[in-house]
Amino acid sequence: MMRLFELDGRLSLCSEFVRSDSRLADIGTDHAYLPVYLAKKGVISSALACDINDGPLKAAKKCIEKYGVSNIVTIKKCDGLSQVDVNNIDDIVIAGMGGELIANILSKSELIKDISKHLILQPMTKHEILTKWLYKNGFEILNQRAVYCDKKYYTVMLCRYCSKKTDLDLYSCLTGKLDINDEVAKEFLKKSLKNLENKFLHDKTLKPTIEKLKDDLL
Ligand SMILES: C[S@@+](CC[C@H](N)C(=O)[O-])C[C@H]1O[C@@H](n2cnc3c(N)ncnc32)[C@H](O)[C@@H]1O
Repeated sequence: MMRLFELDGRLSLCSEFVRSDSRLADIGTDHAYLPVYLAKKGVISSALACDINDGPLKAAKKCIEKYGVSNIVTIKKCDGLSQVDVNNIDDIVIAGMGGELIANILSKSELIKDISKHLILQPMTKHEILTKWLYKNGFEILNQRAVYCDKKYYTVMLCRYCSKKTDLDLYSCLTGKLDINDEVAKEFLKKSLKNLENKFLHDKTLKPTIEKLKDDLL
């Protein structure tokens, strides 16, 4: 029997947000590590492992076959959610892409505007832009955590549609639902603070946000 691999800290945190018995769609699946892992662990009832590129889909197919989960995990070539019948999906994971690309993918699907669907999002960059888009378009963050993995800090957010549209300020977009007392979240936000301080050289309006974040991180 093939011994199951471990997920790295980033994908492991994504996996923690996937509901038991869920029908999963993993968008930008690459090697399909997340759906294969969850299938082997008996967490999900089905999964679509989606990717826009042939190389990753080939790797995904290999991984699915190697671990004998082709009855649970199916590969699909598509751009974002374009070919996914979201009516038959409970949890959607989009991990390992930039925050703007994730927002762009979400903006093209009306069917995700359903309170029963969970979005598990892990932006590699510009998480504040994704958070801004989510709230502006009637979504909310239910839970958000930070994780340290391969010498970097990442955040994962669990979101769903709530229909209330809110225009969040920059500070709220940066901090989201992170627990400011959590040491890993603090380290993650220190990176955002550093970016803001660099931008401050050209944009003095960032001063109040920088000061508020500094107060939190002391
Ligand atoms: C860095 S990998 C992330 C893999 C995995 N989700 C993870 O977090 O480890 C990004 C993957 O997204 C795929 N991708 C990029 N844009 C996409 C799109 N619009 N729709 C579907 N997949 C996309 C790429 O081909 C690549 O396999």
